[in-house]
Amino acid sequence: MILKAESISRKYPRLSANSNFFYAVKATDFEIKEGEVIAIMGRSGSGKTTFLNMLGGLLTPSEGKVTLDGTDIYSLSDNERSKLINSNIGIVPQGQSGIDSLTVTENILLPYCLYHKDNEADKYAKELIKFVGIEDIADCYPSQMSGGELRRMAIARALINRPGIILADEPTGDLDDESTRSVLELFRRLAQDKVAVLMVTHDELAGNYADCIYKMDAGTLTG
Ligand SMILES: Nc1ncnc2c1ncn2[C@@H]1O[C@H](COP(=O)(O)OP(=O)(O)OP(=O)(O)O)[C@@H](O)[C@H]1O
Ligand SMILES: [Mg+2]
Repeated sequence: MILKAESISRKYPRLSANSNFFYAVKATDFEIKEGEVIAIMGRSGSGKTTFLNMLGGLLTPSEGKVTLDGTDIYSLSDNERSKLINSNIGIVPQGQSGIDSLTVTENILLPYCLYHKDNEADKYAKELIKFVGIEDIADCYPSQMSGGELRRMAIARALINRPGIILADEPTGDLDDESTRSVLELFRRLAQDKVAVLMVTHDELAGNYADCIYKMDAGTLTG
């Protein structure tokens, strides 16, 4: 599975002396394929989340295109794109992304339940919950959980559909060193099973687990 960006950029409105918009991400080419672990680092506001969201089908680029195994994802209808992304890309968003009215287990199963009516993912959900170490709170609700627990729930949720690609925005942000290591080791192990992992991180530890590290600086990605 190959996720590719061809000269994608994203502009947002912002008034300044000589223009009424600015580029959060400037024209960028990028590619990630199976078995690769890539980390992106960079200062706050440099465009990392904007870039990841464009790759994950969540934000239409102002210019350029994103292809998943050759399919231009933004040429699809919203429904077609959601289905394609949901079954192939696991997304760990930045910040809290749990649904408050659902339990941990239900949140984790949500990406599966969107397109299936059976319980076939239940066993895998249990395994993931155990792996990320939140089995004691499997029936709790997001408002009852800590930042690190919510982060681990989001990681399990991103894996439930056994995606070929994982896009993770600061997946270890709220985690202690030991949990950080176990998440990074999990990503490495998934890569051995041909999964591609792209993560945004501020964590120096990530350098030990990534095949390469890119830097985002004022909307420009460099290798
Ligand atoms: N919806 C929006 N409308 C206008 N400007 C936006 C919007 N989203 C992001 N921006 C701006 O785009 C720039 C890049 O934001 P982005 O969230 O991609 O940064 P980031 O590198 O992920 O930062 P952080 O490390 O703090 O998460 C910032 O200057 C931000 O203010
Ligand atoms: Mg961000």
